[in-house]
Amino acid sequence: MIQAAVMGYGTIGSGVVEVLEKNREYVAKEAKEEIRVKRVLDLREFPGDPVQDKITHDIADILEDPEIRIVIETMGGTKPAYDFVKRCILAGKSVCTSNKELVAAYGPELQRLARENHCCFLYEASVGGGIPIIRPLAKCLTSDPVRSIKGILNGTTNYILTRMDKEGADFDEVLKAAQALGYAEKNPTADVEGYDACRKIAILTSLVCRKQVNYEDIYTEGISKITAADFVYAKAMGCRIKLIAQSFLQDGCWYALVAPFLVSEESPLYAVQDVFNGILTKGDFNGELMFYGRGAGKEATACAVVADVIDAARHPGHTVNIAWSEEHQEIANIGGARFSWFVRVKDTPGILEEAKKLFGNIQVQEAGLTGECAFVTGPISENDFAAKAEKLSGILTRIRFDQ
Ligand code: HSE
Repeated sequence: MIQAAVMGYGTIGSGVVEVLEKNREYVAKEAKEEIRVKRVLDLREFPGDPVQDKITHDIADILEDPEIRIVIETMGGTKPAYDFVKRCILAGKSVCTSNKELVAAYGPELQRLARENHCCFLYEASVGGGIPIIRPLAKCLTSDPVRSIKGILNGTTNYILTRMDKEGADFDEVLKAAQALGYAEKNPTADVEGYDACRKIAILTSLVCRKQVNYEDIYTEGISKITAADFVYAKAMGCRIKLIAQSFLQDGCWYALVAPFLVSEESPLYAVQDVFNGILTKGDFNGELMFYGRGAGKEATACAVVADVIDAARHPGHTVNIAWSEEHQEIANIGGARFSWFVRVKDTPGILEEAKKLFGNIQVQEAGLTGECAFVTGPISENDFAAKAEKLSGILTRIRFDQ
């Protein structure tokens, strides 16, 4: 019997306990031993809950219990998660986490400490919920370098954008409805401003480059400025608007960004709707690979955490090394990255002539809206676009095109 502990009994933590209980026999067969949750660390009490007798408020009850070999961290954030996880690893306990903030900020250090202490630090659930993406990048795509990775990595924003698209509604209206249904947090900033996706693409890019990418180096733009009118044009162009997190090699440099993009029907990401996530990788020989599934939610995320627990259980006294080095991976300034842009401007005399003079070959786009006009530019660097856009008066929206 393997004894485990859960730190953080929220949505994911309680999901992990549920999966371990409901799939008890299957998990035991896979792990070659039964896995039991002995302790649950949380600030709250849970009267009437099956874990009520296991609740502790003191990390020492986990750290000082030699029977507990695996710790599941589902607290989120870095304080106190980083301190608690570090102390568990230093005590030789394997840690399995769903916490992308923790992995993005402290991944290589915790991975090294796990190696030094002959235990595991596993984090499959930190990106893409139930989608296996961490191990494929670390263990499978090793013969052909990944040149680009991009995806819809945030379920909340994808749900909001899908509803805006289907209902022709504005951002604020859909956000409120999503909050009422529990699909969006009361404080939605991390999701809607792209910070969650930013941590996730930092982790994926670190795995691809095998070096530490600082999430602070990643240009990040959210979806809160996207309007119903933008979707009218998107439809007219056969596109959808998606929050895309991506990194890619261009002219020998790695670029990374999170921003709303117009995605055409030809892209597999076009079909990724609601809370689903989709991730595309591209290699020279392997071509394009697509990973798709539930990127958020209790059950799917809990399944990924429990799979990590099973992996740790299968390797007592050993490190399952899913890691990148502590060396810094430079991310190039976004100013050099090239995209085509969709631009909406107030309709004033000569505005499209002015746009043509600035951007060269533009494609004028009609969508039946009055008082404004719109156009699409050719590929242009971010710096160049920003300088030219500043000279054009009355810009209403600017959105990059996925290519
Ligand atoms: N807030 C995240 C999302 C949860 O909406 O995707 C999963 O990391």
